[in-house]
Amino acid sequence: MVRGWWHDAVFYQVYPRSFADGDGDGVGDLPGLFARLPYLRDLGVDAIWLSPFYRSPMVDAGYDVADPRDVDPLFGTLADADRVFARAHELGLAVLVDVVPNHTSRDSAWFATALASPPGSVERSRYLFRDGRGTGGDEPPNNWLSQFGGPAWTRITEADGRPGQWYLHLYSPAQPDLNWRNLEVRCEYLSILRFWLDRGVDGFRIDVAHGLVKALGLPDVPPGVPQGWEGRLRHRLPYWDQPEVHDVYRTWRRLLDSYADVDTGGGRRGRIAVAEVWLPRAQRSAAYLRPGELHQAFDFPFLLAGWDPVRLRAAIDDALAATAAVGAAPAWVLANHDVVRPVTRFGGGALGLARARAALLLELALPGAAYLYQGDELGLPEVEDLPDELRRDPVFAHSGGRVPGRDGCRVPLPWAGEAAPFDFTSGETAWLPQPASWAELTVAAQRHDPDSTLALCRTALRIRRTHPALGARAAGRGLTWAEDELPPDILAFTRVPGFGCAVNMGKAPARVPVTGPLLLASGPVEHTGTGDLTLPPNTAVWWSALA
Ligand code: GLC
Repeated sequence: MVRGWWHDAVFYQVYPRSFADGDGDGVGDLPGLFARLPYLRDLGVDAIWLSPFYRSPMVDAGYDVADPRDVDPLFGTLADADRVFARAHELGLAVLVDVVPNHTSRDSAWFATALASPPGSVERSRYLFRDGRGTGGDEPPNNWLSQFGGPAWTRITEADGRPGQWYLHLYSPAQPDLNWRNLEVRCEYLSILRFWLDRGVDGFRIDVAHGLVKALGLPDVPPGVPQGWEGRLRHRLPYWDQPEVHDVYRTWRRLLDSYADVDTGGGRRGRIAVAEVWLPRAQRSAAYLRPGELHQAFDFPFLLAGWDPVRLRAAIDDALAATAAVGAAPAWVLANHDVVRPVTRFGGGALGLARARAALLLELALPGAAYLYQGDELGLPEVEDLPDELRRDPVFAHSGGRVPGRDGCRVPLPWAGEAAPFDFTSGETAWLPQPASWAELTVAAQRHDPDSTLALCRTALRIRRTHPALGARAAGRGLTWAEDELPPDILAFTRVPGFGCAVNMGKAPARVPVTGPLLLASGPVEHTGTGDLTLPPNTAVWWSALA
């Protein structure tokens, strides 16, 4: 396998509206990010992935794109984007941007012309318009459900004022799904990719990558098959993971490869794409990484395994085997802007934080790339008590308030100071309020504290860059589990040459054979040098056998 720069890189997800605000309106933006880029260089990541900053009515926080070739004024201008790309490259950081090909915004020019054109027109065929079922076409064309709740179809009013066709939206009604069996759609997205590649981005994160092509005839989901979260993980649904979607990515790969020799700064070559594929088994996501297809696919089984050593180990083994079989490497993920933050997922409070720190060391010790979500380096918890009236995630409204939605992991970062908005903005308030308790979690508060999560993350990334068993320098592609009579709730493995990692996921301290001096521990441990170590629960250690 030829190893590209991305194989073992650490990517940091910037969620622009919550990273840093440059103009004082309380919403993060590109100038804010520009000013804070040195922080990311100092953290020691290799690349950033920027969530959408395109023109959008912001129904789904920018994942409803009205113009994919322009920056929304909320976030700045195209020139601001260019400045971010150039400065990131100067600092040695690669830049991925999001591409959202499954749907556009309802406010896009294409959707406007589709609405203004008659059924059966070329303009409508870019989307999935269908006649309704039942008398007068009053029923949706099939039984598909939106991921955000309710039917996946909305009926339009035709130009003559009569109730008309229905259009498909796997997400909110403000996000009409495109028809990827239409050649014009395919060409348009190649042109969008080229637009950003020409501006110097190093690649793309592909939103809902497994959803673009729908089964021919848009058949009903069989009765009894759940279509929500569980459904997408257990069953083959007619709108996910259809074989023809791979043709799309083979074309994208050829485009990306045609830019292979164009240096984007810092001598980095090779443009890449990472797929957001929510699929149950690594074997299915690895199909997106076959030769001639994409570079990476997020490993969500790792994220979904929770604090469960058996599931985690299975997820790790599956991902390593499945990616190796196609000549690729895993891309580990513990968090993103769609899921509850690890500290809270793992139990909250001091327990959750201890586990999140241990999980971070586990993630960063594994062979392959790692994705970090902004704020996880600070050990931020989910904000669970946001007032309902401030919640913006459409999931909240579509579920009639039953599902809190994803705002709790999107609260703006605390940078410095004793009170909100913690230097996130020069304005008075951030777009979502930060808890007062975050005064202890600001970057400034953690920067000089050797026991802070920020210090742990920085040290881990430094070791990852320099140790010959880790990161880009890694000699071996795999890991070896330590089998010798360890209790099942200890995950312990070694990598060559001379690196070990152990995590105690049990409730009691456990003896772990440590063959050299400790490099790093996620919490307090005592170790005299070599020999067995008593590893406290909810703690991870790295050790070296080199010295
Ligand atoms: C992806 C994004 C999520 C968005 C959805 C629809 O899953 O990560 O934030 O709501 O796609 O675009």
